[in-house]
Amino acid sequence: MVSSIKKVIVVGSGIAALSFAKTISKSCQVIMMTKKQCSSSNSMLAQGGIAAAFSAHDSAEQHVQDTLAAGCDHNDERAVQEIVRLGKHLVEQLVAEGCPFDQDEAGEPQLGKEGAHTTHRILHAGGDQSGKTLVQFLKSQLGSHIHLYEYHHVIDLLIHEGTCTGVVWKDETGHVHTMTADAVVLSTGGCGSLYETNTNDPSITGDGLMMAYRAGAQLVDLEFVQFHPTLLTIAGKAVGLISEAVRGEGAYLEDETGRRIMKGIHPQADLAPRDVVARAIFHEQQLGHQLYLNIHDIPHFSARFPAIAQMCQRAGVDMESGRLPISPGMHFLMGGISVNEYGETTVPALFAIGEAACTGLHGANRLASNSLLEGLVLGSKAAQRIEQLPKQKETSPPFSIQEIWMVPMISTSQLRQWMTTFAAIVRDEKGLQTLLHSLQRVNFQQINVKDITNEQIELSNQWALAVCLAKSALLRTESRGGHYRMDYPERSDALWRGRQIVHEKGHIHIMKNERIGAKWNVYS
Ligand code: SIN
Repeated sequence: MVSSIKKVIVVGSGIAALSFAKTISKSCQVIMMTKKQCSSSNSMLAQGGIAAAFSAHDSAEQHVQDTLAAGCDHNDERAVQEIVRLGKHLVEQLVAEGCPFDQDEAGEPQLGKEGAHTTHRILHAGGDQSGKTLVQFLKSQLGSHIHLYEYHHVIDLLIHEGTCTGVVWKDETGHVHTMTADAVVLSTGGCGSLYETNTNDPSITGDGLMMAYRAGAQLVDLEFVQFHPTLLTIAGKAVGLISEAVRGEGAYLEDETGRRIMKGIHPQADLAPRDVVARAIFHEQQLGHQLYLNIHDIPHFSARFPAIAQMCQRAGVDMESGRLPISPGMHFLMGGISVNEYGETTVPALFAIGEAACTGLHGANRLASNSLLEGLVLGSKAAQRIEQLPKQKETSPPFSIQEIWMVPMISTSQLRQWMTTFAAIVRDEKGLQTLLHSLQRVNFQQINVKDITNEQIELSNQWALAVCLAKSALLRTESRGGHYRMDYPERSDALWRGRQIVHEKGHIHIMKNERIGAKWNVYS
């Protein structure tokens, strides 16, 4: 008998994947595969929370305006409007379902503030363990049609006549398998591990982006990389994230002499957009200053931020001094796999959600705590879309898998060092060309898929993504949000407004924004 149940493979296990799994009905059987443990995601590490216009003094329109201002006019305004409004509704639903957000004395969600928000609108949970709480809550709501498999490393997509028909994956012993499906959803996060200092889970190696790229999907805006201003840093080594919510509660940045570095830099001072704060810190560090987050003015710090306080204690920081040593680190990729409002990529039956996707919500610089919101919305919308799609043909289409992999003969630490030196908070043509040439001079070894290790697969993905990112950053001859060019320090709306850089099947195009109806230009 022919089954009418659709089969969907979800790759990843963060908020977006779980929102998808929570939403999708029993008309679909869902196989969730994650290459490490279910808890190995950036969502689990999210401290700040989820932004939603809950306060009587706030509105969805104000949230939209703050998102556009932080995104430096590079956002897709339609996506912003939709995600902010639908996101608020989904958060209200979570509150009604009993998701344990922190509450004020009146039993309403307590609202924090973060950079570039004009008002308090961040719901948080467990003080600074918002992501973990949300993940656990969503996981507890999954139905019996959701099957979660840990240590199932999806390494490639099956493509038949241009349509995605399944995945290639490796089990814990290294054996290669294929699995067909009616749709595949990539929820694999961004690429924090490309940089020496980052806030990401170590498993976040750009895998989904590069699988989509090899399948011919468009990637956009890869040059827009967000550095979080405050990572606890001991003896030059980043230990972990100190949430922007800490500045929202009154902490401020100062140098070794107590000089407040953000005064006069931006009207929102310590709560300026992240790109502005990260660049200011970078500039001070270049001048030889030590930077600190002064938390003196925050009452009951350890109660409000228990995980951060514990991290500081473990790292031997003298909390009584009220000064936490910090430096910036890679945090979030604004660009990603180009998707529409349902998470559909340009490859039929292939979806992308969460940080792996680029909806246009974040523009050139993400507004704090908008990413959990985006994951929640896009996961839910992709689920609704897949329910409407017809089932693919029952007979398994023929497929061949990539047998020989070209693995760059380079260490991950070398790759990270190049990216950190030449494609981080500030860039210029000379550095980016050096980066690109260095990447392209690397030798390769051919390894059969049966013998390739997980680390070699990740390294191949990281190398290819680094090339795409370097090319994108070279092509954008202006400064905007997370992409700052020392040789082009101004924003150039005349040249760049409404344009995006797109990768497709190995080519880079410059494209005028589809919304204004212009044609594609093949650039190189
Ligand atoms: C933070 O807590 O500072 C991170 C929140 C975010 O990146 O949205």
